[in-house]
Amino acid sequence: MAGISTKLIHDDDSTARVPDVVQPINVSTTYRYSNNPDDLVPVTQRSDEEQLSELIYSRLNHPNSVKAETILEGILGGHVVVYSSGLAAFFAALTYYNPKTLAIGKGYHGCHGIANIFSRLNGLNQIGLDDDFSVLQKGDIVHLETPVNPEGTAFDIKYYADKAHERGAFLTVDATFAPPPLQDPFLWGADLVLHSATKYFGGHSDLLAGVLVTKDPKVKLQLFHDRVYLGTNIPNLESYLLNRSLRTYELRILKQSKSAEEVVKYLNDNIAKYPVLTKVYHASLQTDAFVKEQLTGGYGPTFSIEVSEAEIAKTLPSRLKYFHHATSLGGVESLIEWRALTDASVQPTLLRISIGIEDSKDLIEDLDQALRFEYK
Ligand SMILES: Cc1ncc(COP(=O)(O)O)c(C=O)c1O
Repeated sequence: MAGISTKLIHDDDSTARVPDVVQPINVSTTYRYSNNPDDLVPVTQRSDEEQLSELIYSRLNHPNSVKAETILEGILGGHVVVYSSGLAAFFAALTYYNPKTLAIGKGYHGCHGIANIFSRLNGLNQIGLDDDFSVLQKGDIVHLETPVNPEGTAFDIKYYADKAHERGAFLTVDATFAPPPLQDPFLWGADLVLHSATKYFGGHSDLLAGVLVTKDPKVKLQLFHDRVYLGTNIPNLESYLLNRSLRTYELRILKQSKSAEEVVKYLNDNIAKYPVLTKVYHASLQTDAFVKEQLTGGYGPTFSIEVSEAEIAKTLPSRLKYFHHATSLGGVESLIEWRALTDASVQPTLLRISIGIEDSKDLIEDLDQALRFEYK
């Protein structure tokens, strides 16, 4: 089988509509039907497969959304539906499963926000991942984020898959923090995998997108039909940018993963040197056996540090030269965020760090000078 980079560049060759090596940005929202009346077949008589890729109206499909799904299917090991954001994808997942109870743990605050909308609208019951699962019934959901936002530490997918399946529930895994080839949640029993493609797949901090991946073509079909009415297909321009980004995705993720491991190792090995640095969180520092088994392709490039005082966490980003103080992660530029600015669930001493593609030596030097600074 071809390697990831080869697939990212050639899996969509068959979808080309013009000879251009780079396919155009398509802005049309609507597509002319055939002039030959014999080609005109009512929707009730067109096959599922035809509906998944036919061009009628861009809320259903457009050339670059179909292309994005084709490219992503090559590397994600399942059937892919793309969305206008990661949260649109999570909303679609909950809409599809419509669970009575959702087991959800630590993780991105936005996913909790969506779960809370379902609780408000139709009384979705929410429990924690470590609560008693005996309340879970057939068709309910266990939602696991691993590695988890913001710490970048890993949870055991198989453990939660087994616990969910014992109750007839499904396991959804948000794998945004460790996309392929870092980990494959399907190997450990995930039923549905989610990615915020805004992060590593997009990689340039210039697009929003989300992805759901399923092994079951019937699930893809239902997700596709739901997306038509939710109105959450990825837009034209964003999908063009996503396809552009996917060509270089493997180069970026491997470099970001390697650099993050180096930076984390440096900080953790030298923690005693920096009185302001109190803790480093990252999957590479976990010793549980499942971590290495699950993250076979490398650790996620985002991690967190804790500093001794909230005031230091607030000030430290402004001392850095090569890290923008901004939310989000996964882009080519390294970012740091005083996480309390956007996430109400974390300690005010926490800083989240997303490693980009700069030279890791420069990033270490930069962090070193900011951590050595005498904060008043
Ligand atoms: C783990 C995780 N899942 C989902 C999302 C939501 O993605 P988006 O911002 O593309 O809606 C984020 C965003 O930061 C995230 O970190």
